[in-house]
Amino acid sequence: MSCSSRLEMAIWFFAFLGISVVAVHVHGQQLPSTEGYISIDCGSNYNYPDPTTQIPYVLDDQYIDRGVSYNISSSYLTPSLAKQLTDVRSFPDGARNCYTIPVLQNQKYLIRTTFMYGNYDHLNSAMLLFDLHLDVNYWQTVNITDASVPYRLEAITVAMTDFMSICLVNTGHGTPFISALEMRPLKNTIYPIANATRTLILYFRVDAGSLTNNIVRYPDDPYDRIWIPWSGSQSWMTIYTNLTVRNYGKDFEAPSTVMQTALTPVNSNQMQFRISYISWEANVNAFLTVLYFSEVLSLSGNSSREFNIYINDYLWYGPYSPPANVTDWIYDPVPKYPYDQYNYTINATSNSTLPPLLNAMEAYFPMQKKDITTNSSDGAISTAFASLMAIEILDLSNNNLTGTIPDDLGNLPSLRVLNLKGNNLIGPVPDSINQKENKGQLTFIFDHKINPQPKPVRKISTPVIVVISAVSAILLLVLVALCVWRLKRNRQGFASNKSTRRHGEEHSTELQNHESPPAPPEGHLFTYPQIVKVTNNFLTVIGKGGFGNVYHGCLENGIQVAVKLRSQLSPQGVREFLAEVQNLIRVHHRNLVSLIGYCNDGNYLALVYEYMPRGSLQEYLKGKVGLPRLAWTDRLRIAYQAAQGLDYLHRGCSPSIVHRDVKSSNILLGQKLEAKIADFGLSKTFLGEYDTHVSTRRVVGTPGYVDPLYHSTLQINTKIDVYSFGVVLLELITGRSPIVPGSEDAHITQWVSRRLQRGNIDDFIDGRLQGDYDANSVWKVIDIAMRCTTQSGSQRPTMAEVVIQLKESLELETAHDKSESLYNQRLDTSQTSAFGIERVISGDFGPSAR
Ligand SMILES: *[C@@H]1O[C@H](CO)[C@@H](O)[C@H](O)[C@H]1NC(C)=O
Ligand SMILES: *[C@@H]1O[C@H](CO)[C@@H](O)[C@H](O)[C@H]1NC(C)=O
Ligand SMILES: *[C@@H]1O[C@H](CO)[C@@H](O)[C@H](O)[C@H]1NC(C)=O
Ligand SMILES: *[C@@H]1O[C@H](CO)[C@@H](O)[C@H](O)[C@H]1NC(C)=O
Ligand SMILES: *[C@@H]1O[C@H](CO)[C@@H](O)[C@H](O)[C@H]1NC(C)=O
Ligand SMILES: *[C@@H]1O[C@H](CO)[C@@H](O)[C@H](O)[C@H]1NC(C)=O
Ligand SMILES: *[C@@H]1O[C@H](CO)[C@@H](O)[C@H](O)[C@H]1NC(C)=O
Ligand SMILES: *[C@@H]1O[C@H](CO)[C@@H](O)[C@H](O)[C@H]1NC(C)=O
Ligand SMILES: *[C@@H]1O[C@H](CO)[C@@H](O)[C@H](O)[C@H]1NC(C)=O
Ligand SMILES: *[C@@H]1O[C@H](CO)[C@@H](O)[C@H](O)[C@H]1NC(C)=O
Ligand SMILES: *[C@@H]1O[C@H](CO)[C@@H](O)[C@H](O)[C@H]1NC(C)=O
Repeated sequence: MSCSSRLEMAIWFFAFLGISVVAVHVHGQQLPSTEGYISIDCGSNYNYPDPTTQIPYVLDDQYIDRGVSYNISSSYLTPSLAKQLTDVRSFPDGARNCYTIPVLQNQKYLIRTTFMYGNYDHLNSAMLLFDLHLDVNYWQTVNITDASVPYRLEAITVAMTDFMSICLVNTGHGTPFISALEMRPLKNTIYPIANATRTLILYFRVDAGSLTNNIVRYPDDPYDRIWIPWSGSQSWMTIYTNLTVRNYGKDFEAPSTVMQTALTPVNSNQMQFRISYISWEANVNAFLTVLYFSEVLSLSGNSSREFNIYINDYLWYGPYSPPANVTDWIYDPVPKYPYDQYNYTINATSNSTLPPLLNAMEAYFPMQKKDITTNSSDGAISTAFASLMAIEILDLSNNNLTGTIPDDLGNLPSLRVLNLKGNNLIGPVPDSINQKENKGQLTFIFDHKINPQPKPVRKISTPVIVVISAVSAILLLVLVALCVWRLKRNRQGFASNKSTRRHGEEHSTELQNHESPPAPPEGHLFTYPQIVKVTNNFLTVIGKGGFGNVYHGCLENGIQVAVKLRSQLSPQGVREFLAEVQNLIRVHHRNLVSLIGYCNDGNYLALVYEYMPRGSLQEYLKGKVGLPRLAWTDRLRIAYQAAQGLDYLHRGCSPSIVHRDVKSSNILLGQKLEAKIADFGLSKTFLGEYDTHVSTRRVVGTPGYVDPLYHSTLQINTKIDVYSFGVVLLELITGRSPIVPGSEDAHITQWVSRRLQRGNIDDFIDGRLQGDYDANSVWKVIDIAMRCTTQSGSQRPTMAEVVIQLKESLELETAHDKSESLYNQRLDTSQTSAFGIERVISGDFGPSAR
C-alpha cells in the first residue's frame, strides 16, 4: 500500500520587514560595506538608520519632485512595523511618475520596491493595480489586495546610463503609491544571467530549512537580498552545520547562514516540489531557477549522498554530490519556457546512503530590455510626435529635454494638452502653439525656463566617446553610421557601400538635429536578409491583411514571431512608419501584442511581432475547422483581458493611443487563450491608407465595427474604440458577425436590440454555448455591450469602467463555473498570486512505503 500526502505550502512573502524580526547578529567583526546602497523611505520627512539592519535610509525629495506624502492609517501601525512602511508617497496626478536614481553606468544592481497600502488615503480600497516600469521597460504590475501586507517587487539589472528611472504608471485602477525603494550594487560576476540586455525579475528566493524561521538579509547577506525561510513538506526536516559555508565568489553566492541549513526528507530518498506558474507570468516567455547545494553533515567513510534532479520527469542534472564547506549551485543558463507548473524531483541514486538535500532556491523571469533608456545628454523632443495625428495629451514634463520645441507640435489636430514643464528647452515657443493656445484649443504648460536665445544644439562630443573604451567608441560610431546610412539610403533610394562611413559621419549632426526620426534602437532593427532567415524564406503564411501577408518566424533564440511584410511605401510613409514604430516599441502590456522589432531595408518594410499561437478570436467565433468551441468563461476572460489592453492604450500610454480598428480579428490568443490586442497605433501609415477595407482615405476601420459618429465627424477619440469593443462583446455573446448582409437587422446592434426586448436570453445567445453560462453574467455583459454601442459617445463608458464591469461578470461566472473551460487555470486563490508576493510551492513527498 502506498500512502502519499501532498502538501501545498504557500510562501508568504510578507514575512519580511517589520512582521518578522530580522536576525541580526551583533558581529564582533566588521559588518559588510553598505557602500553604494541606495535606501529610500518614500514619503518620509527625515533620514535615519534602520534600527534592525543599521542601513541608513533617506527621504525621497532628492529623487522625485512629484506626488504627495502620507502616513499610513494608525490602525495599521504596529510597534514592530518597519519605519519604511509607515509612510508612502502617492501619485494622484499624472499617468507616469518616476524616481530618477543616479547610479554607476554598467554596474549591476538589485532593485527592490515595496508597497504597503495601510489605507493611507482613508479610502479603504480593496484592490489597487498599477504598473511598474524600469526605465522604458514594463517591469511588473503591482496588485495590492491587502492593506496590511508589504508587497515587494525585485529585479536585477545592469545600469545602461548614469541614472535609472523607476516609474509608477497609473492604469486607471487606483492611485499608484510606493513605500520604499532600495538599490544594492552587485558584483558584476554574480548572476551572469543578468546582463546589459537582460533584466531578471524575482519570482521567489527561499532559504530551505531554517533553525530560527527568520528571514535572512543584511548583514548576513552583503547584497541585502531577502531570503524567506521555507520548510517544505511536513515530511521534510532541517539539517544543519555549525561550520561556515564559503562562496567561490563566482556566478552565484548565498549567505553562509542560508547555506548552513538544508531540507531533507525524513524517511524517503525522494524530494519532490512543484513550482506553479500563474496567469501573469505566462506572459513572460521564460524563467530561470537556481538551486543551491552544500553538504551540511560530515560524512564518514562509507556514507555518501548522491542524487539526480529531474524536471517534469526529465533528468535535468546528475548524478551529483554536493560539496562540503562551499556553496555550489545548479542552474540552466537557457531559460525554461512556461508550462503551468514544473515538478522538480530530487532522487537519491542507488549508490547513495543518504537522502537528497536542498539548501536554497531562487527563481527569476528574464526580461529582455526592449529599449535603451532615454539618454540624459541627448534628449531632444522627437519630431516623431508630430506625426501622431490622434494625440490628445502630450506630457513630456520633467524629462530634462533639450533643444527646441518642434513647430509641428502646434499643428496636431487633436492635441488638447501639451505639457513641457521641467525641461531645458531653448528657443522661442513656435507660433503654431501660441495661436492654438490663444484660440483656447490647447492647454500649454511650461515653466518659462525656456531660453529665448537659441543655442547650437549639442553634438556628439568626442571627449565623451573617448572616455568609453576605444572598442565601444568604434562600435558606437559604426552603429550610428549604419543607422544614418540606412535612413539616408531610404530617403535617396541609393547609397554605395564604399561611402557608408562617410555618409554616416557627415550626417551625424543632422541626426542630432530633428530632421529625421531618432536612430532605431539596436536589436529592434532587422535587415531584409535577416527577415528572410527568420521566416525561413517566407515559408509559412499565417495571415493576410490589407498591407500584405503575415508570416510565421523563429528568432535565433527560438522565440516564435509573426512577421508582417509589405513593400513600397511612399518616402513620406516610411518616415511616418519609422516615427510610429519608435513609439510603439515602447508600449508594453500583457494584453497587447508586443512589437519586437522591425525592418526597413530598401524597398522592404516589415514588423516583427510576438507570435500568438492560437490565432484570432474571430477564427474561434466563426467556428474555424479544428478549433474547439469557446466556453462562456473563456469568452468572458478574453473580453476582460482585451479590455485591459485597450484601457492601457487609452490611459496607460502617454500620449494615449486610440486603436481605431478594434475587431475580433485583432484580438489574438496565446497558448493559454490569453487575449492580446494586435495592430494598434499603426493604422494610419502602415495599414490605414492602403488598407483594402477603408472606404475613404481618412476613415480607418472595418465595416460593422466603426463608430457611426466617427463616420460622420471623423473625430478621433477613445470612445470610437469603446464602440468597436461593444460590437466585439455582442459577437462574443451571439456568435454572429457584426454585419450579416441582406438580412433585415443587418447590423449586430439592431439585431440584438430587437431581440432584447423580449427578455429571453435564448433569443440571442450563441447556441453553441448550450445553456452553459450564468444568466446574470450574460445580462451584465449585454448591458455593457449596449452601453458601449450607444450612439452618443459621451454616454458610452470608458474602457476603465468596462474593465471593472467585465471583472464583475467574470466573478459571477466563476462562482457559477461548471463550464468546460479551455483555460486550464483555475481562479483559485491558492494558485493565483499577488504578483511576486506569495508563491505556491508544494512539497510532494512520494510513496513512503516501498
Ligand atoms: C507623519 O507623521 C510624522 C510623525 O510621526 C509627522 O512628523 C509627519 O508630518 C506626518 N506626515 C504626514 C504627511 O502627515
Ligand atoms: C545577455 O545574455 C543573453 C543570454 O545569455 C545573451 O543572449 C545576450 O547576448 C547577453 N547580452 C549581452 C549584452 O551580453
Ligand atoms: C552547533 O553548536 C551548538 C552550540 O555550539 C551545539 O549545541 C550543536 O550540537 C552544534 N551542532 C552541530 C551539528 O555541530
Ligand atoms: C560503515 O562501515 C563500517 C565498517 O566498515 C560498518 O560497521 C558500518 O555499519 C558501515 N556504515 C554504514 C552506514 O554502512
Ligand atoms: C506535476 O505533478 C502533479 C502531481 O503531483 C501533476 O498533477 C502534474 O501534472 C505534474 N505536472 C507536470 C508538468 O508534469
Ligand atoms: C524517484 O524515485 C521514486 C522512488 O523513490 C520513483 O517512484 C520515481 O519514479 C523516481 N523519479 C524519477 C524521475 O526517476
Ligand atoms: C570542511 O571543513 C572542516 C573544518 O574545517 C574540515 O574538517 C572538513 O574536512 C572540510 N570538508 C571538506 C570536504 O573539505
Ligand atoms: C556506484 O558506485 C560504484 C563504486 O563507487 C560505481 O562503480 C558505480 O558506477 C556507481 N553507480 C552509480 C549508479 O552511480
Ligand atoms: C536635469 O537637469 C538638472 C540641471 O541640469 C540636473 O540637476 C538634474 O540632475 C537633471 N535630471 C536628470 C534626470 O538628468
Ligand atoms: C548618451 O549620449 C552620449 C553623448 O551623446 C554618449 O556618449 C553616450 O554613450 C550615450 N549613452 C547611451 C546609453 O547611449
Ligand atoms: C490581484 O490579486 C488578487 C488576489 O491575489 C487576484 O484575485 C486578482 O485577480 C489580481 N488582479 C489582477 C488584475 O491580476
